[in-house]
Amino acid sequence: MTFVARVLPDNLLFFIEPGETILDAALRQGFDFSYGCQQGSCGTCAAKLLEGKVSYPDIEPIGLEEDEAAANFILLCSAVPESDIVLQHAGVTSPWSSTIKKLSYRVAEMNMLSSTIVQLLLEPPTDTAIHFHAGQYVELHTPDGEHRPYSIANAPLGGKHIELHVRHVVENPFSTNLLNTIAEKQEVQLEGPFGRCTFRSGLSYPLIFLAGGTGFSHSKALIEQAIQLSPKVPMHLFWGAKTPADLYMNELPLRWQQELPSFQYTPTISRSDGTYDWQGHTTSLPKLITEFYPNLNGTLVYASGPPTLVLDALNHFEQHGLRREFLCSDAFDYLGEQT
Ligand code: FES
Repeated sequence: MTFVARVLPDNLLFFIEPGETILDAALRQGFDFSYGCQQGSCGTCAAKLLEGKVSYPDIEPIGLEEDEAAANFILLCSAVPESDIVLQHAGVTSPWSSTIKKLSYRVAEMNMLSSTIVQLLLEPPTDTAIHFHAGQYVELHTPDGEHRPYSIANAPLGGKHIELHVRHVVENPFSTNLLNTIAEKQEVQLEGPFGRCTFRSGLSYPLIFLAGGTGFSHSKALIEQAIQLSPKVPMHLFWGAKTPADLYMNELPLRWQQELPSFQYTPTISRSDGTYDWQGHTTSLPKLITEFYPNLNGTLVYASGPPTLVLDALNHFEQHGLRREFLCSDAFDYLGEQT
């Protein structure tokens, strides 16, 4: 059974496979703890165990002082969990950590992907850039001091550019102001990167992507990264939108599905009132996913969309065997918690 490790105070999560040491699991998933000998003798990797149970099947923890052992400290390099665990350990470097910058990006391209979705392709200044991880977001600033979060729609595959999908309707003062600024200056102010729902490397669980509306932008970045890092891991994207036209890059996941045996794509439409030519699914995203996967135990779900959709999905998925730690979403950042 896979165990979950939670590290306080930053509320970081990683997964530990049977027989694996805590340090090995953390390093495999891109978390950086301080450590030295990896033999249980130097004590550098000591951390306080707040909850759960561990054992030392292979190495005696001689690096622990008596008072540390009495205070429930453990050695991460040699301890193997026997349950989910909670650790207290400050100073852990997470895989998504990066310096936050505020920079002007040049608008290299602006394309209408549908009647309301604008694709922005943005280039950084020549000497610097926002270094991001797949799945993070930036704050887009307008000259009047307003700002909004937008998922970065591409993985950082060698280039430095940033792609954003912006929904624009005339009643929206923010997007109107943004597009007026672009027309005038051909540049935008970005701040970031932010967000902890990044692509989790070092895992081989089947991946399910739930994308609601422009939540596709977040899914797209994660899938691009998954295709690069683990193309054989099964992936299934479910994209839900109001109308077929709102599946504004439908041809891209269709192409992934054609080119990649491990990738499946299932779209669904919520406003199927007969006015569109649509022969596909009309079921809500959470229900559609459990029609395909009645048992979600052992899968990792990335959910991208409005917080209400994500919370509905989580509640529904928990009834189908998914542990909440196996659902990753930015929605929990907005709601002030993190799984
Ligand atoms: S790294 Fe030396 S005791 Fe764990």
